[in-house]
Amino acid sequence: MAAIVPEKVYEKAEEYWATQASDVDGMLGGFEKLHIPDINDSKKFIAYLRKSKLLIGNEVAVDCGAGIGRVTKHLLLPAFKIVDMVDVTESFIENSAKYIGELNNRVENKFVQGLQDFTPMEGRYDLIWIQWVAGHLTDEDFIQFFQRCIKGIKSQGCIVLKENIASGKRDFDAIDNSWTRPESEVLSLFEQAGLDVVVNRKQHNFPQGMYEVRMFALKPSKNN
Ligand SMILES: C[S@@+](CC[C@H](N)C(=O)[O-])C[C@H]1O[C@@H](n2cnc3c(N)ncnc32)[C@H](O)[C@@H]1O
Repeated sequence: MAAIVPEKVYEKAEEYWATQASDVDGMLGGFEKLHIPDINDSKKFIAYLRKSKLLIGNEVAVDCGAGIGRVTKHLLLPAFKIVDMVDVTESFIENSAKYIGELNNRVENKFVQGLQDFTPMEGRYDLIWIQWVAGHLTDEDFIQFFQRCIKGIKSQGCIVLKENIASGKRDFDAIDNSWTRPESEVLSLFEQAGLDVVVNRKQHNFPQGMYEVRMFALKPSKNN
């Protein structure tokens, strides 16, 4: 396999996303029907984190790879007083106010930036939510991004990754320029970043024949 040049991968991914529609179907790669089961299971996941005292505060969350704010609008704004968004695609961020509607006044910051460059403000967040975007990061950038997230959460804060999982070896999608990693590789990257998986749950009610999707709740490793 040809060597992967990170700058090229990011450039091509940016070019791809710049051509996609600013609507739910565009966010979900043509699978709009995933929206409701996705949000429902994410809500249950957050409720479980709260019940288990793994997530305490409800002040500030950040939606990483937010796109137009599908997750911000339906999951995070109903559960947190303030939400920040970060996404590399300017048009999605520009169109997000219209999509989010009246709740948009509680979105405090909208960062147009790649996660490979984004540094969450230290100690700001109760929850850092990263959904369907981490496959765009190289292994090295994945580890470093999650290390910066550790500094971005409050002392009782939590990081969640919701991501597609490959059943065998990792896949590379040459259309959107992202990797789908097997669970073992994702777990190894968490370990290298200094994170413990405190909950690992499968998404239910998705159509057959799709990648398995998992939600990982992460806390700074006790060994650090
Ligand atoms: C599959 S969409 C998911 C959007 C949103 N998380 C959701 O679930 O509705 C992927 C998003 O990742 C963004 N993206 C791609 N590469 C990125 C990067 N390196 N840093 C930040 N965002 C990126 C795209 O612009 C797009 O909005």
